[in-house]
Amino acid sequence: MCQNAFVPYKATLIPGDGIGPEVADAAVHALKATGVEIEWERAELSADIIMASGESLPLHVVDSMRRTKVGLKGPVTTPVAGGYQSVNVALRKTLDLYANVRPVRMLPGLKTRYQDTPIDMVIFRENTEDLYAGLEHEVVPDVVTSLKIITRRASARIARYAFDYSRANGRKRVTAVHKANIMKLGDGLFLKCCREVAREYPEIQYKELIVDNASMQLVMHPEQFDVLLMPNLYGDIVSDLAAGLVGGLGIVPGANIGEEAAVFEAVHGSAPDIAGRGIANPTALMLSAVMMLIHLGETDAAARLRAAIEKTYAEGKALTRDAGGTASTEEFTAAVVANL
Ligand code: NAI
Repeated sequence: MCQNAFVPYKATLIPGDGIGPEVADAAVHALKATGVEIEWERAELSADIIMASGESLPLHVVDSMRRTKVGLKGPVTTPVAGGYQSVNVALRKTLDLYANVRPVRMLPGLKTRYQDTPIDMVIFRENTEDLYAGLEHEVVPDVVTSLKIITRRASARIARYAFDYSRANGRKRVTAVHKANIMKLGDGLFLKCCREVAREYPEIQYKELIVDNASMQLVMHPEQFDVLLMPNLYGDIVSDLAAGLVGGLGIVPGANIGEEAAVFEAVHGSAPDIAGRGIANPTALMLSAVMMLIHLGETDAAARLRAAIEKTYAEGKALTRDAGGTASTEEFTAAVVANL
């Protein structure tokens, strides 16, 4: 997709709410400093806008994404137990962004409980179905069913995406995570699809782990994992667990990829506890921007931005509080830009 330096890329910027606008500003600033020209279509999306419009996914966001095909997105708040449906889930489903890709890696110099453990894994989470189909029903008062949808189509394509990625990126082992001992049909179908796809990639080792054991193994021996492949709900939970191993939600990026469009966003949410204080860590969204640059074919700029972020961590002078420093979002961003 890499294009002539004089023609800017078009992309949609969805700053989101909570800490979203703060980290989005930082990521845009860092992207600009790489020299890659991006013409942003800014699409505002927040809890307030959703409440006012009455739509769980306002049209202007979808329209912009359909035009640009590439988005950089901050988090958007979703009310708990009631209120409107998750706009994040709605966006992924509407644009059919079926592959949620979350690389979990140590940053140089960052002090964590696992700082001496070489953690470098990529989580592939199916992004369109499972319990996130949002099909819930109160059968009679005080009895509710939530439908867990698993299809061959969605399971096979996320499996293929994970194996293709592994092949292209020299990854050695894919571990499918499931609970097919209990959900024999639903997770059973997911596993069946993973096994079928795995057979087409004989050079890549294929393993399976039940999700409870996988969670324990991740805490005890995270270095054993290379690529993790899972349905939506386990992928969501395990991503945050894995983020905790490498220094927290402030540093883990992500991508939502579909056939037509891709939206790059951090694993973290809107962090209402620190929103508006200028202390959020923008690393996760900056690293999501690195993934976006790779998607655009700007691999050189991507490598430079990643190197600048890593250098900032290795120096350790301008880290945000969650990473053990005292720097503000702006100070961290200035350090990254200086290192570029
Ligand atoms: P959260 O990820 O917003 O925050 C969890 C903890 O991590 C908080 O203590 C927060 O301060 C910290 N944290 C998160 N990102 C950080 C950063 N960049 N720098 C420093 N510290 C950071 O999870 P929570 O509180 O469960 O969810 C808040 C809201 O975000 C909810 O409405 C939830 O639905 C929404 N959410 C949205 C997502 C999205 O838009 N993709 C993803 C996850 C949650």
